[in-house]
Amino acid sequence: MSPSRTLSATEVRSERLLLRRAHAADREAIVELMTDPEVQAHLGGPRPRGDVEKQFDTVMATGAPRPGNFVIADGATDRLLGTLMLGRRARDLPGHVTEDGEELELGYVLRRGAWGAGYAFEAATAALRAAAGELPDQPVVLVTQTANERSLALAARLGFRPVGTFEEWGAEQTLCAADLSAFRLQHAEWRRTPR
Ligand SMILES: CC(C)(COP(=O)(O)OP(=O)(O)OC[C@H]1O[C@@H](n2cnc3c(N)ncnc32)[C@H](O)[C@@H]1OP(=O)(O)O)[C@@H](O)C(=O)NCCC(=O)NCCS
Repeated sequence: MSPSRTLSATEVRSERLLLRRAHAADREAIVELMTDPEVQAHLGGPRPRGDVEKQFDTVMATGAPRPGNFVIADGATDRLLGTLMLGRRARDLPGHVTEDGEELELGYVLRRGAWGAGYAFEAATAALRAAAGELPDQPVVLVTQTANERSLALAARLGFRPVGTFEEWGAEQTLCAADLSAFRLQHAEWRRTPR
């Protein structure tokens, strides 16, 4: 993926969080994230520990930049709370809002212990604001299982609207969309609002 096709920043800060690249010390937290049955309930189920460790070690060894892939870390302690992806939705997958496909696509996963604190909302808002400051206006999509109530609630809070449903991975998925520029405007409003 060309860096200009997603957020090129490698770090984004918000009030409580730091979005950053993964590093070796994140290994155990990433393993927990990918093997936790509750976290992975709507993402195809928990992965085998050995597979996750192998994949993590391979990614760390190659050291290749992965634009749009972030660890969501606690801004004060640097502890990993989850991950956030702002990539492109492959044309050959179902679920698009443009003819050409390859829309910007948002994804997020938090460790179970980090749910219910507004971290995913804060991280997604920060990433989308940064992207809106860097990229031309365009649609952003988000795909989540219709049964994933927490994810749908978060999508709505972020300002995404449901635009359709389709079947993928043996489950009904809801396709949600928003305009990237909405986050730029929100940014301007946010700066004007006394805090
Ligand atoms: C989807 C997921 C990221 C949502 O996490 P979340 O913590 O519910 O989402 P938010 O960051 O928006 O936090 C909202 C909650 O924090 C609470 N909250 C506490 N402090 C807050 C603050 N300062 N600001 C905002 N919300 C706050 C809200 O009241 C809300 O709680 P509630 O759901 O009990 O009403 C999480 O459930 C998850 O990782 N699921 C597994 C992975 C997954 O399915 N991902 C979707 C793939 S696209």
